Amino acid sequence: MKRVDIYRTILWVGVLVMLLTLLVSSFIRLARVTNSINYGNIPPNGTIDIGYVENPILTFLHILPGCFFILSGAWQFIRPMRNRLIHVHQLNGRIYIILGLIIGVTGIAMGINLGFGGSAETSASIVFGLFFLYALIKAYWHIIKKQFILHREWMIRAYSIGLAVATIRPLTGLFFTFTDVPFHTFFGISFWIAFIVNASIAEIWINYTRNSSGKKIKSLS
Ligand code: HEM
Repeated sequence: MKRVDIYRTILWVGVLVMLLTLLVSSFIRLARVTNSINYGNIPPNGTIDIGYVENPILTFLHILPGCFFILSGAWQFIRPMRNRLIHVHQLNGRIYIILGLIIGVTGIAMGINLGFGGSAETSASIVFGLFFLYALIKAYWHIIKKQFILHREWMIRAYSIGLAVATIRPLTGLFFTFTDVPFHTFFGISFWIAFIVNASIAEIWINYTRNSSGKKIKSLS
């Protein structure tokens, strides 16, 4: 097995773990919001839950498309599917971009309206939400121009940012275990760390595959 294939496998395992983490967190969050609304169980002020219950439409508009976005994104990166079912790839790609635009806008709105993690969370959501929207638009622009390599690179950037909310989970676990920092403070800091970590891994992968395979790379994974 070539080194690039080993790294690709590791990356895929990471993506699948993040994908599952996001699907489980989404299910739990939506179930809790629905339960609170149906049974009138309003969470106490100052908890992380209250923001979601007070903004149910925004929460659903963010998390439901988010689930389809990460699933449709994973599909787009599976090379054999892409090569064999190019029409499905093109259709799914359009859906993926529309979902991404919804998530980017609602993600920024969540960071401003909920912002349990304070200004650190709000600023991280705005900066990376805008970068995420930019990456999606760039990726689309490049595919229209038939610039496949640039399309691939901007799609990887966008997808890595989309998955970053999953990276926040283990980070908050680490903070809980090893520090006495209040939850809302480290939650905000975790946003910055998670987005930076995911964006950096994407950049390393893009550079590595660009350098090791050069012009031969026609694939998206
Ligand atoms: C640009 C991308 C994204 C940004 C800027 C963003 C931003 C945010 C923000 C600000 C919150 C609220 C945190 C709080 O104060 O409680 C949030 C929550 C959440 N987001 Fe996103 N998000 C993005 C992408 C996604 C994607 C792709 C998913 C996929 C399902 C997702 C799933 C969730 C979930 C499940 C929550 C609730 C977390 C919890 O239960 O604690 N997000 N997001």
